[in-house]
Amino acid sequence: MERLTSPPRLMIVSDLDHTMVDHHDPENLSLLRFNSLWEHAYRHDSLLVFSTGRSPTLYKELRKEKPLLTPDITIMSVGTEITYGNSMVPDHGWVEALNNKWDLGIVKQEASNFPELKLQAETEQRPHKVSFYVEKSKAQEVTKELSQRFLKRGLDVKIIYSGGMDLDILPQGAGKGQALAYLLKKLKTEGKLPVNTLACGDSGNDAELFSIPDVYGVMVSNAQEELLKWHAENAKDNPKVIHAKERCAGGIIQAIGHFKLGPNLSPRDVSDFLEIKAENVNPGHEVVKFFLFYERWRRGEVENSEAYTASLKASVHPGGVFVHPSGTEKSLRDTIDELRKYHGDKQGKKFRVWADQVLATDTTPGTWIVKLDKWEQDGDERRCCTTTVKFTSKEGEGLVWEHVQQTWSKETMVKDDSSWII
Ligand code: GLC
Ligand code: MG
Repeated sequence: MERLTSPPRLMIVSDLDHTMVDHHDPENLSLLRFNSLWEHAYRHDSLLVFSTGRSPTLYKELRKEKPLLTPDITIMSVGTEITYGNSMVPDHGWVEALNNKWDLGIVKQEASNFPELKLQAETEQRPHKVSFYVEKSKAQEVTKELSQRFLKRGLDVKIIYSGGMDLDILPQGAGKGQALAYLLKKLKTEGKLPVNTLACGDSGNDAELFSIPDVYGVMVSNAQEELLKWHAENAKDNPKVIHAKERCAGGIIQAIGHFKLGPNLSPRDVSDFLEIKAENVNPGHEVVKFFLFYERWRRGEVENSEAYTASLKASVHPGGVFVHPSGTEKSLRDTIDELRKYHGDKQGKKFRVWADQVLATDTTPGTWIVKLDKWEQDGDERRCCTTTVKFTSKEGEGLVWEHVQQTWSKETMVKDDSSWII
């Protein structure tokens, strides 16, 4: 959050499973659409927050499986664990607050009296979250009886039913909504209260997000019955909450447009983006656009025409250099020529490219340094390169690529890097 010097323009607080991530879309198209929209239009001045029921263990697994961006803030285990930044630094202050009228031992002991409750995996049992599976038909009754028992034992807990199967027991002060309220308060004291906040969810544990004041909300089209029921009973007349027509991340993009929170056209929805000239100089946008072009080029989704190569060549400095992750240096012009050979080589294959954490700095006037993580999914292999691009801008001429340098990221160990082109 330190990178922001003023209040974020937009803070998106999104659930992951069946909201940001569509488990019924093996191509991850709506997620990739969201990613390029976020990186080209929001990353530099906004905050991305993931709020998931998953424990840190399962959250990390999901990140390996799906092309998720790196959020600024990660809220896990149904609002009981908050971490910041890339390195996921925990918020100890939040954990302290959760100990009030909470006793893990008593919760487990009382719950063990209910044979209807089946304990979830060990990884999902957390210091302030005890989780079970329970059949839909029994959920209401069990919740009622459990609450009474906890009350008798002097505990103040919250029981949440999600996805028609998961039952979580948390301290009363926990949950996704309380965690968001805490975050907003914290940002406010730092003078960084977001101009707009959009909460996104699909199931029972997301309901709380939609009752935080001054927050816009979107229930994605595929929202669960329990969330729609909660909405009908509690928030029907709130014009700040919509039930989207589109599934998952598509619904999030729809809500950005509906509430007029900023740009809502994903670069992935533009077919001939090389023709688009951005109104203002935006080097981050340039990079997102290029890597998307690169994906389409190799998938054979753009025409193999001289016009493209010529336009690319026109945007690079004649003496521009590309440093391959292997250390080899080539001129940028030669790299573009080489690209010709690869047109359509990934046609019909699982090949996707996306940019994460695109951040630009302008240290000297007219010069921009853009840093990003460039990801490539190639069949079942996924690789990441930390990429640095130096741009120069000349009055009236737009941006010129001067230098591109790539190094393998820590997460990517590559034995043979010959198939990595740019
Ligand atoms: C995630 C968690 C699980 C929890 C569920 C609903 O699936 O892994 O423990 O019960 O979210 O909150
Ligand atoms: Mg969900």
